[in-house]
Amino acid sequence: MTERIDFETQARYIQEVRERIGSIRPDRKPPTYYIRTFGCQMNENESEKYTGMLEMMGFTPASDMETADFVLFNTCCVRENAELKVFGHLGALKGLKREKPWMMIAVAGCMMQEPHVVEEIKNKYKHVDLVFGTRNIHELPKNLYERLTEEKCVISVYDTEGYIPEGVPLKREHKYKAWLSIMYGCNNFCSYCIVPYVRGRERSRAPFDILEEARILAEDGVKEITLLGQNVNSYGKTLEEKTDFTELLYRLSEVKGIERIRFMTSHPKDISDSLIIAMSELDKVCKHLHLPLQAGSDRILKEMNRRYTKQRYMDIVSFAREKMPRIAITTDIIVGFPGETEEDFLETLDVVRKTEYDMAYTFIYSVRKGTKAAEREDQIPKEVKNNRFQRLLEVQDAISLKKNREYIGRIEAVLNEGPSKTDKTVCTGRTDTNKIVNFMAPEDTVGEIINVRITDAGAWSLEGETV
Ligand code: SAH
Ligand code: SF4
Ligand code: F3S
Repeated sequence: MTERIDFETQARYIQEVRERIGSIRPDRKPPTYYIRTFGCQMNENESEKYTGMLEMMGFTPASDMETADFVLFNTCCVRENAELKVFGHLGALKGLKREKPWMMIAVAGCMMQEPHVVEEIKNKYKHVDLVFGTRNIHELPKNLYERLTEEKCVISVYDTEGYIPEGVPLKREHKYKAWLSIMYGCNNFCSYCIVPYVRGRERSRAPFDILEEARILAEDGVKEITLLGQNVNSYGKTLEEKTDFTELLYRLSEVKGIERIRFMTSHPKDISDSLIIAMSELDKVCKHLHLPLQAGSDRILKEMNRRYTKQRYMDIVSFAREKMPRIAITTDIIVGFPGETEEDFLETLDVVRKTEYDMAYTFIYSVRKGTKAAEREDQIPKEVKNNRFQRLLEVQDAISLKKNREYIGRIEAVLNEGPSKTDKTVCTGRTDTNKIVNFMAPEDTVGEIINVRITDAGAWSLEGETV
């Protein structure tokens, strides 16, 4: 049974921290915070919770890591690269903390669920003040209070399975769109993947809590929600109430004010025809399906424990396109899984060419300690992995460009998210099919879904003008 933890238990600590906040900096000004997030959207959503709690306790945003009084790294361990970056940052902050002894450094997220990482932090990174596991987010007020009163490193990493904290305050990064986590954890144990070990067993939030959150978001001006889970197709399996993801989509479509619903990720093994039919019937559900392929060879798929075949995968894609001809399909692909031969890799290229993905996130296989594939002796040499990766990129980049160029001349509904981060003179937004569009637009259309004529296209984004 999933236990529900309400955030109210932290109220006393929030008060205690608020009372001590003025004594953190020598000049007694309110301390500032900076959060750096690695990894997936789930982590971004959780960073918004850390932000919400910090602001509730009186912290204010810092413009960069160097000037912040409280720095938090929300980490990812799905590939080695992301881990190395975090250790790099921690090393660099050592000197800074010597100059600014009141500074606090916190590390949170998936890496902290790996026992060897916590050991390394205890032994080599003694300047770290707080460590949070993936199921300890809501404990920030309590742990911060302990850190302020006891001057020691506070580590809280649970391996307790199956509870869901509700009511954690959150500060959204975007005004008109929001992440909405509907389930946590994963039970699939794909043989290359560390997520089930660091995120625990799959558990779904109650439909009531999800619908309530959607209503509150809508009241706050949110137009677009993205439902998050490692495998949204198995939503509801852990609930007493008999329900599933398709039903959730129908219910969320009823929420007034929410105009667009996105979701990720769908696992091909559990995708149902009823989900595709629901997507085609529900106007608010965006016509975009992120369907990770991982590999095209049946033998590799089997060894990855993905539990579908190349043919079954291609059939899902055909059915989705038959029901929704303009649907965008994106994917995740791994090259260089142990034992992958040239023939296996060609099977992956074959699916990529036939499916013509709108976009693919491509990864080089990274050995993850504790997973089944890590123990294999037939690891692929680096040069071979790199070569396959480059070849895959070349094929997919050409397809992405071709797919995007098909949009030129079309009129697309785009949610105007406001000025682009990189160029303040243009607005940015996404089509229903999740393509990024940059365009000029009157200021009063920010936050609205407007019609944009697509005038140009590159492999990563589209250009347009409002009509
Ligand atoms: N739950 C999602 C994936 C989450 S991880 C799903 O099953 O689709 C995001 C992506 O990282 C995966 O789809 C996979 O392509 C990639 N990935 C996971 N483990 C990896 C590893 N050990 N090496 C390289 N890429 C990996
Ligand atoms: Fe990892 Fe597979 Fe779970 Fe996705 S479904 S998180 S790839 S184990
Ligand atoms: Fe990374 Fe954790 Fe997400 S390992 S991909 S941040 S679930």
